[in-house]
Amino acid sequence: MISLPLDRIKTPSFVVDKALLRKNLAILDQVRQRTGVKILLAQKAFSMYAVYPMLAEILDGTCASSPDEARLGREEFGKEVTAFAAAYSAGDLAELLQTCDRVIFNSFSQWERFREMTSAAENVKFGLRCNPEHSEGTVEIYDPCAPKSRLGIRVCDFKGKSTEGISGLHVHNLCEQNADAFARTLTAFEEKFGFLIPQMQWINFGGGHHITRPDYDIDLLCNTLNGFRQRWGTPEIFLEPGEAIALNTGFLVASVLDIVHNGVDIAILDTSAEAHMPDVLEMPYRPFIIHSGEAGEKAHTYRLAGHSCLAGDVIGEYSFDQKLEVGDKLVFTDMAHYSMVKTNTFNGLRLPSIALFDSATGEYQMLRNFTYEDFKSRLS
Ligand SMILES: Cc1ncc(COP(=O)(O)O)c(C=O)c1O
Repeated sequence: MISLPLDRIKTPSFVVDKALLRKNLAILDQVRQRTGVKILLAQKAFSMYAVYPMLAEILDGTCASSPDEARLGREEFGKEVTAFAAAYSAGDLAELLQTCDRVIFNSFSQWERFREMTSAAENVKFGLRCNPEHSEGTVEIYDPCAPKSRLGIRVCDFKGKSTEGISGLHVHNLCEQNADAFARTLTAFEEKFGFLIPQMQWINFGGGHHITRPDYDIDLLCNTLNGFRQRWGTPEIFLEPGEAIALNTGFLVASVLDIVHNGVDIAILDTSAEAHMPDVLEMPYRPFIIHSGEAGEKAHTYRLAGHSCLAGDVIGEYSFDQKLEVGDKLVFTDMAHYSMVKTNTFNGLRLPSIALFDSATGEYQMLRNFTYEDFKSRLS
């Protein structure tokens, strides 16, 4: 178990462990070495740019969902920058053409509308996102192939369209999935889009590959990617995972502010599901807390809740060996990805600080404390 320097951590704080990140990078590098694929960081999941130089030692670049993410990738990470969004405004596209190596379009109507701009951008490569109409996800909001999805072009919509100027394709339909889901997706993709693959210089197989999870089948991923390359000879293949890069590398440390009673013991924390870990409510899921059990499993059970006004700002029910006291610190695990990037200042709640820790050396570094100015500067 990682031992964070809790006495030095001001709460609430996100703390990312560099040693754990290095562990993930070593796994991802293995995939790169065995397959020759390029791996991009999906910044939507993890934009902690303080560690970009470390990630850039192994990874091949970043992918962005907006001009601001693209600029962050260009300025702080370097290497390749790829952008994809469901639609671009002319202004956004003009910015992306200045910062990106590749820009992926989500529809023929956008690709055709901006043809003059893209033709003039000689150093940028262009791709189209395909919808393989093959669902692997069970949760509709995380399934880009769900019926009526706006994401990706279906094969029927390629009929009569020119792909002149297009050098790559993009497919993304996974979310926290193992390599078997990717292998099935690839079969569907090849069946539908095989007629286009030979003319492509690059294919980007998106994110959602949970590569650094302990039970992930890396052999199957590598065999699947190598098989694809042998069948089609596509020169460049990309993966753009977000979650797999930062999986299990970060913590959110919070303190107990008060304990109240209403049928159950309720501990109110100086963090909030609504403002600091919105996926807990949105996905929804129950984050793990170090030294805790399920409700009733250990001697003392509490409902843990945030300090916002939202009645539903509840993290879940947890049990502990000891009674909780005001001032006790709790450590939520796996809080690096889709957390810092999703926080908000609802209720004017102060954003959690951001810190770096290295469990290999014990080094602890506070990177960022947020202030009133951060709250005010988002409003007018
Ligand atoms: C197009 C695209 N690429 C990559 C990702 C990153 O996915 P993950 O963080 O699950 O690996 C997403 C996530 O939504 C995505 O939509």
